Amino acid sequence: MSRVVTRLRDEWKFTRTPVPDALQPGLDDASWESVTVPHDWAIAGPFDKENDLERKVRKGQLDVEASVQEIAGRTGGLPHTGEGWYRKWIEVPAAETPKCYRLECDGIMSHAVIYCNGKEAGGWPYGYSSFALDLTGFIRPGERNLIAVHVNNPASSSRWYPGAGIYRNVLLVELDPVHIKLWGVEITTPELSDAQGSVRVVTRLEAVTPDSEITVRTTILDPDGTPVVEEEYSIVTTSVVEQKLVVDSPRRWSLETPAQYTVRSEVMVKGAVVDTLDNRFGFRTVRFDPNLGMFLNDKPVKMKGVCQHHDLGPLGAAVNTAALRRQLEMLKEMGCNAIRTSHNPPAPELPALASEMGMLVIDEAFDEWKYVKMINGYHTLWDAWAEKDLRAMIKRDRNHPAVIMWSTGNEISEQWKEDGAAISQFLVDICHDEDPTRPATGGLNNVAASRRNVVVPTVDIIGLNYQPQDYVHVHTLHPGKAIYGSETASTVSSRGEYYFPAVDEIHLKRDTLQVSSYDLSYAGWATAPDVEFRAQDECDFIMGEFVWTGFDYLGEPTPYAEEWPSRSSYFGIIDLGGIPKDRFYLYQAKWSDKPVLHLMPHWTWPGHEGKPVPVQCYTNYKEVELFVNGKSLGRLSRYPKGRVLQSNYRFLWPAVPYEPGEIRVVAYGPKGVMMSETCVHTAGEPAAITLVADRQTMAADGEDMAFVTARVVDKHGNLCPRANNSIAFKIAGPATVAAVCNGDATSLESFKSNRIKAFNGMCVAYLCSSGGPGDVIVSASSEGVAEGVVGLRAD
Ligand code: GAL
Repeated sequence: MSRVVTRLRDEWKFTRTPVPDALQPGLDDASWESVTVPHDWAIAGPFDKENDLERKVRKGQLDVEASVQEIAGRTGGLPHTGEGWYRKWIEVPAAETPKCYRLECDGIMSHAVIYCNGKEAGGWPYGYSSFALDLTGFIRPGERNLIAVHVNNPASSSRWYPGAGIYRNVLLVELDPVHIKLWGVEITTPELSDAQGSVRVVTRLEAVTPDSEITVRTTILDPDGTPVVEEEYSIVTTSVVEQKLVVDSPRRWSLETPAQYTVRSEVMVKGAVVDTLDNRFGFRTVRFDPNLGMFLNDKPVKMKGVCQHHDLGPLGAAVNTAALRRQLEMLKEMGCNAIRTSHNPPAPELPALASEMGMLVIDEAFDEWKYVKMINGYHTLWDAWAEKDLRAMIKRDRNHPAVIMWSTGNEISEQWKEDGAAISQFLVDICHDEDPTRPATGGLNNVAASRRNVVVPTVDIIGLNYQPQDYVHVHTLHPGKAIYGSETASTVSSRGEYYFPAVDEIHLKRDTLQVSSYDLSYAGWATAPDVEFRAQDECDFIMGEFVWTGFDYLGEPTPYAEEWPSRSSYFGIIDLGGIPKDRFYLYQAKWSDKPVLHLMPHWTWPGHEGKPVPVQCYTNYKEVELFVNGKSLGRLSRYPKGRVLQSNYRFLWPAVPYEPGEIRVVAYGPKGVMMSETCVHTAGEPAAITLVADRQTMAADGEDMAFVTARVVDKHGNLCPRANNSIAFKIAGPATVAAVCNGDATSLESFKSNRIKAFNGMCVAYLCSSGGPGDVIVSASSEGVAEGVVGLRAD
């Protein structure tokens, strides 16, 4: 018998009411809520300004009341703080021979303490770490066993929405006493050529005794699942087995063809298999050259990356593979090839998906070390947990070909502290110890401005947050270190909101609490995307950039940190529900090979006739011409002198007199040949809802998802760009509405509903398979307009 893995998904009981005997098997939990795991208790809301409200005292204010600054939406205004209890009964079959039991938790937010049959079995405070508990000795085989989990989220511990509860998967693994340890197979590829790839496999075992007659058989399967090489290591007498296998003509893992091989590890005692485990890996080389940039399989690659927090918009922190895959697919579509998991270890699904889909990952461990950023932040755990947390992240993720670096932290206060270098070195040493094949890095700020930055000398590779103007300077200061932009842009916008003129308006406070979508507003410490583009183009040595952020996330509503009801970010290139903002096309024009021609704003400005409207086009064509109702407003081409942003991908006509009808942009190629065109029409009154599903089938497995976008349109099918109809979704067939979202950072409607208002004409319903197969018909209705319908299939 091999290991038996049971996912603990269904039939959890949950409460937030303090119960003294919650961990006791005798307690009656019938009145508790029934939930499935992954679960995020806070995402249903209600939103409230008081949730995790931060009150700061402004310096230099005489008036006491005015001196109190209230940062309202910092963690999303959701009820994630405080305690929660989970309980689940599990049937554990009787066993003929003694077994070991391991509870594997991908992440519990946070300060989890786990009890089994009324006894404390252990816990893990950092909510982003994966960990396992040995439940052997707690579990009673042949009986029902109670797992109880206590969770406690302190207030003022995060700079963004952390989520709440058992928000990642939990597995119960039944093992023979002789088994592979947690993350116990380490795979590296020390030599690689087109002819051969050598594979070093280190297998770490539990319960090895001199007379146990253990054999480890390691088989490598190619990307099609065919075994290509096998090696047996007989009579293991130590708990660590090292093998070297050779694969002929290895297929490379690359961004275009992410071929992954599998190492199948089988452990045998006296000839009988007692444990089997599959781990995937890839053959690829990565080289970081301080002068020439990064090379993947000896080919230059610039990282066109985004930083991502871990939440999945209206699903909150509760991980869902389909939702995560959709995020990566959209990002890839934009030309993005890399993710920085800011600022914490991701769900294990993320590096696995990136490895499968051909994207690079920087795994980041911390936003805070020993010195305080948040009153109850990571510094409270530092002494006891930093080493354990960092080792856990690396051990778990080091076989993934997508992962290229370990980031020890983001904008850490230690950069300027006396003991900062030693603290950083301690973490870098752990990275090297767990994985000598990958460099350690960090997201560092003010590197050029402050030569006193003591962390810089300790990292292998310098990640610079918001310093494109200093790339050359930092390169000169640290000639031996490769450099990349670990955080860039921090441009803010609200999808479909346009304010005139088109200028940087970061310091404007609008009553709408929205930010103009001309993509000219960015955080004070940041730059517009175009400025970063130029720096990247001008510096061959820069290995790429990671835009803050790919998707909007819950919390950190800059520039409306103090204004309520602003509860989610404006930084995303894609909004919180997953609808691209205009900026998506700016990055796509720069990053992808696709021809891009995108025109903005919408062209429905009643009452504005004759007045100027800025018109902007994002494109990678070199020359474009704008027409208003057929009249040309002239051509614009690349490299004009004196253009504000000097971007080659942004063309702006700052003041086009508005007249209803149509704006059209035509793109020209070499010799003035017309290549493409796109137009925007003035919309009439809302007449109907149209629905578009992002797929035609979903798996009938109870957790696959489909994403249906609703658009409010006029009788000609034009998007009504300001429509805010309340839309009700109905489903016939084996699916449910798991969440709804409209991308409006100020909306206080619950995500866990089947109804939401359109924001600037659009919203998205997240459909989840409810288990069985069948046709799924989605309809969306709103008063006064024709219903929208779309069908898909659950199989
Ligand atoms: C950075 C920080 C990020 C986020 C961002 C917003 O300085 O590392 O976590 O706060 O600013 O612009």
